[in-house]
Amino acid sequence: MRLILLGAPGAGKGTQAQFICERYKIPQISTGDMLRTAIKDGSELGLKVQDIMNSGGLVSDDIIIDLVKDRISQPDCENGFLFDGFPRTIPQADAMREAGVKLDHVLEIAVADEEIVNRLAGRRVHPASGRTYHIDHNPPKEPGMDDVTGEALIQREDDQESTVRNRLAVYHDQTAPLVDYYRQWAKEDPEAAPEYHRVEGVGSVEDITRQVTEALGPKV
Ligand code: AP5
Ligand code: ZN
Repeated sequence: MRLILLGAPGAGKGTQAQFICERYKIPQISTGDMLRTAIKDGSELGLKVQDIMNSGGLVSDDIIIDLVKDRISQPDCENGFLFDGFPRTIPQADAMREAGVKLDHVLEIAVADEEIVNRLAGRRVHPASGRTYHIDHNPPKEPGMDDVTGEALIQREDDQESTVRNRLAVYHDQTAPLVDYYRQWAKEDPEAAPEYHRVEGVGSVEDITRQVTEALGPKV
């Protein structure tokens, strides 16, 4: 299975990706996680993107498209993959279409802006794995510690309220047009285009997982 998770910052893409990837046995390709790893490693790419990410802006399409093309050519992507946080602009979506990357599903997770600011203020992450928690809605077993490794959780640099508001503005401007892009394509050419699904992203994590698995179909 090859799919795109589409949704605003904090919509729950990373949270649902964990379940989906386990269920369908596919790797999660999170461009955000890849860029954060590059920053942590102090690589050339990391130095280039650090300031943009911390301000909540988007990294240039060229950098992202190269990164993703390279990643999906790896052997573990042969049976499919999940894109989390990619594509995020029309040129990124066009690049996949032009490269002939056939996608099965686009799954939109819809959440209103007000809910998002609250969610991101309470988010905690395990930086090494990308595992994500929320202090109230999805707490770790031990406060401040990752369930699997017991290592410390951190807050993401870009989860301060003013940065979150900027990320939301960028989402509405640059990424939300992809909703129409994929809907329109599915209508015009259902053979070639991915199937489009929308789930409401408000409710318990388990509830949303149920809707997601219903939309995507049986386990492989
Ligand atoms: P990226 O890492 O992709 O961040 P994002 O899209 O802003 O999304 P988030 O990771 O913030 O949210 P999420 O939807 O994964 O939510 P989560 O599951 O964690 O990108 C970061 C930056 O990298 C960008 O700003 C940009 O600079 C750059 N970048 C990345 N990709 C790029 C690209 N393609 N092009 C250009 N630049 C790119 O959940 C959020 C919180 O809510 C958690 O605490 C979670 O526990 C909680 N939660 C989840 N579900 C629920 C629920 N149902 N109820 C209550 N709480 C919930
Ligand atoms: Zn995420």
